[in-house]
Amino acid sequence: MIPSVDRVDVLLSQDELNERISALGAEITARYRGRDLTLVGILKGSALFLTDLMRAIALPLQIDFLELSSYKGGMASTGSVRLVKDLTHSIEGKDVIIVEDIVDTGLTLRYLLQTLATRKPASLATATLLDKPSGRVEGADCDLDFVGFTIPGHFVVGYGLDLAGYFRNLPYVGIYHPEEDS
Ligand code: PRP
Repeated sequence: MIPSVDRVDVLLSQDELNERISALGAEITARYRGRDLTLVGILKGSALFLTDLMRAIALPLQIDFLELSSYKGGMASTGSVRLVKDLTHSIEGKDVIIVEDIVDTGLTLRYLLQTLATRKPASLATATLLDKPSGRVEGADCDLDFVGFTIPGHFVVGYGLDLAGYFRNLPYVGIYHPEEDS
């Protein structure tokens, strides 16, 4: 069944997202001047954030993508992470920023940091639009270098984040209220 947008309440508006992403871009621009920057977007959720963030960074940079899977179409994390698509190019010697839409349990990011560190980047940092610290599981506390917003423990959709593949195209981040709540 296609979920209804009527069950989504706006948490972060398009204007709030734009403003914060511009600020993150400026921060990254200041910190990475003179470096060989690669943004690694984690598909599919980070697609919108990555494309807006890269436009807010006033530096030469490259992008690449990885696809992982941790949520299997529902609202709860399964706890397992699977590599679906690897990077196209080597990141050896590059200053890499992993770009995520959300850090929830932290398991995806922990896997990414461990995996990408073995590929000898010059540096490895993390940027996430959303940080949901209440979701973090033991042993998956990662350092987040660039955070857009810290959010409470709701299930959020929009701006790349999905429910069963839907809602990624919403231009805002919203809280999804499942039917049982009504
Ligand atoms: C989501 C999100 C992060 C990950 C975060 O991806 O994009 O990659 O979960 O969750 P965690 O901190 O609990 O590991 P998902 O597996 O849903 O795939 P998607 O990006 O294609 O939606």
